[in-house]
Amino acid sequence: PHRPIKASISERAATSPAFSSPSHLPMRKIPGDYGLPLIGPIQDRFSYFYTQGRDDFFRSRVKLHKSTVFRVNVPPGPFIAPDPRVIALLDAASFPVLFDTSLVEKRDLFTGTFAPSPALTGGYRVLSYLDPAEPLHAPLKKLLFFLLSSRRQAVIPEFRRTFTALFDSLDAALAADGKADFGGANDRACFDFLCRAFFDRDPAQTPLGLDGPKLIVKWVLVQLGPLLTVGLPSFIEDLLLHSFRLPPALVKKDYDRLAEFFKEAAAPVLDEAEGMGISRDEAVHNILFATCFNGFGGMKILFPGILKWLGRAGGTVHGRLAEEVRGAVAGIGGGEVTMRAMEAMPLVKSVVYEALRMEPPVPLQYGRAKRDMVVESHDAAYEVRAGELLFGYQPFATKDPRVFERAEEFVADRFVGERGEELLKYVVWSNGPETEAATMGNKQCAGKDFVVLVARLLVVELFLRYDSLDIEVGTSALGSSVKLTSLKRATF
Ligand code: HEM
Repeated sequence: PHRPIKASISERAATSPAFSSPSHLPMRKIPGDYGLPLIGPIQDRFSYFYTQGRDDFFRSRVKLHKSTVFRVNVPPGPFIAPDPRVIALLDAASFPVLFDTSLVEKRDLFTGTFAPSPALTGGYRVLSYLDPAEPLHAPLKKLLFFLLSSRRQAVIPEFRRTFTALFDSLDAALAADGKADFGGANDRACFDFLCRAFFDRDPAQTPLGLDGPKLIVKWVLVQLGPLLTVGLPSFIEDLLLHSFRLPPALVKKDYDRLAEFFKEAAAPVLDEAEGMGISRDEAVHNILFATCFNGFGGMKILFPGILKWLGRAGGTVHGRLAEEVRGAVAGIGGGEVTMRAMEAMPLVKSVVYEALRMEPPVPLQYGRAKRDMVVESHDAAYEVRAGELLFGYQPFATKDPRVFERAEEFVADRFVGERGEELLKYVVWSNGPETEAATMGNKQCAGKDFVVLVARLLVVELFLRYDSLDIEVGTSALGSSVKLTSLKRATF
């Protein structure tokens, strides 16, 4: 019999001062069981969504099993997912096995143990669902790299234009009502910005009008409903969202309107696609998905999250950010927001990474073991069999106290300086270490650098205009719900 290969970051880990070298870890049988068929998965689903909630669900099982690696069922289970059984990886040492595409297969695992019907994406399995070994993965990813690089120059000006309008509208709402909801205005700004930055189109000037965000949210909810709670009474919600698939017909008309927009707006990218051997139609649905699901969906969660963490960080941090941003723009930028000016904003960079560490916007990752292997946590080594499904709940990897001091706290300057940069390899929001790049051969987010750039631009815009902010935070189906209760105009 062949020797199982080691799947761990022990090599990388050994170079980190935060780790003790885990060279001869004891082998341990993976603890946990899946319970009775049907009943076990439904019990676990109820605990996950309602009786315990996601964080407690995982935390309590780590305690129970005295292990950050264990067997458990994940939602949705019956009757949507054919097999809810996974091996959970809940620490920074074992989690990165999910990025190693030589060890795990990523086919149809974007949303976990079930894949939404391709009828929701124009009849195609779009890029996010493709394993790098599938023939269209590389060309489609290359097409998105082309889109991003060809429109590089548009990002800063279009961002400033759109988000100036956003903050103008928030100022007006605050003046009128003493409170301003960030979510709705942010949805519109994000979609407008993406369409302008990627395609030089203002959706309001097209048949889409202002409907884009609403159409996308409904379409995303039909895809992700089995993984979400929307606040209905538990038994009703569980039956409605988690037990059976919602029919794609619910959003067919909405989706067709979006597709019409992209067919026209993305025409130059579609020409490029044809040259690369991708059909125009398949390209449209992939560009729609990257812009609306990956891009809009990601920013819809990330931006309120950044506001939340900044709002809670308090006046001292606000003051330091305002000084840094205004100093760099006035100095190196010569009065403009430039890439070079932003390079000179270490605290801005750090707060963005820290927000992505505290609350990775896409928290669940999956990979199917390609062969028998050994996965290592900090404390033990576990044998995994070919075909078993590995699952990581990312916040437990990025808030691992064995890697990060004060792991549960938002530390604004955590990533400033040399010691801070050492830690960037443990920031993995993009489905890979922040120190590595998305390639045609891996599954790391194609928009990685773009996302970090726009997140920094949000912080820059905020502290060019304001000295400080106050917020109120609630929850929503996708990310935090944030209301601004004050925005103090810049005084210096
Ligand atoms: C993949 C996060 C924005 C394009 C991913 C993955 C994550 C992620 C976690 C890996 C999913 C998995 O396989 O488990 C985010 C977040 C975003 C964002 C949080 C915004 C805040 C964007 C944007 C684009 C994009 C703007 C536009 C080009 C993609 C693509 C993939 C991907 C194409 C699939 C890559 C592949 O299959 O190799 N993203 N993303 N993302 N993302 Fe992003």
